[in-house]
Amino acid sequence: MWFRCRLALTLALVACNAVAAQVVPNNELQVGAGDHLVRAHCLVCHSAQLIVQSSLTRTQWLDTIRYMQRKHNLWPLGDQETVILDYLEANYGARYQSSGRRKNLPYYR
Ligand code: HEC
Repeated sequence: MWFRCRLALTLALVACNAVAAQVVPNNELQVGAGDHLVRAHCLVCHSAQLIVQSSLTRTQWLDTIRYMQRKHNLWPLGDQETVILDYLEANYGARYQSSGRRKNLPYYR
């Protein structure tokens, strides 16, 4: 009886660990095709949090990359840009039918 109990407990713990291993913390990038390029190019300047908290369309991700290049000296990404966009779209694509950020509030006089 005790042996069976211990066996059941051990199996339950193993199963729990297997499930826990798949959970990615909020501030880390999802594992997926192209994630190594995003790690290499994007996490040099800031944490993954800025990416993880976003949900953008492919066009908006491209705009964000251009913005990084214009304002923050992100280097040209060459052929790797497509792979990076594929990754961003697949893992942090637009979840809602919105333009990502809300529009600025009207100027208050
Ligand atoms: C050379 C430095 C640098 C690199 C490399 C860089 N970024 Fe950034 N990024 C910044 C800075 C600085 C900010 C915060 C200031 C801002 O939002 O203007 C930022 C902000 C962001 C934001 C938040 C923008 C917002 O509107 O809130 C996102 C999303 C982002 N980066 C994505 C990326 C991605 C994706 C890559 C890789 C393709 C990347 N960054 C590479 C400098 C960089």
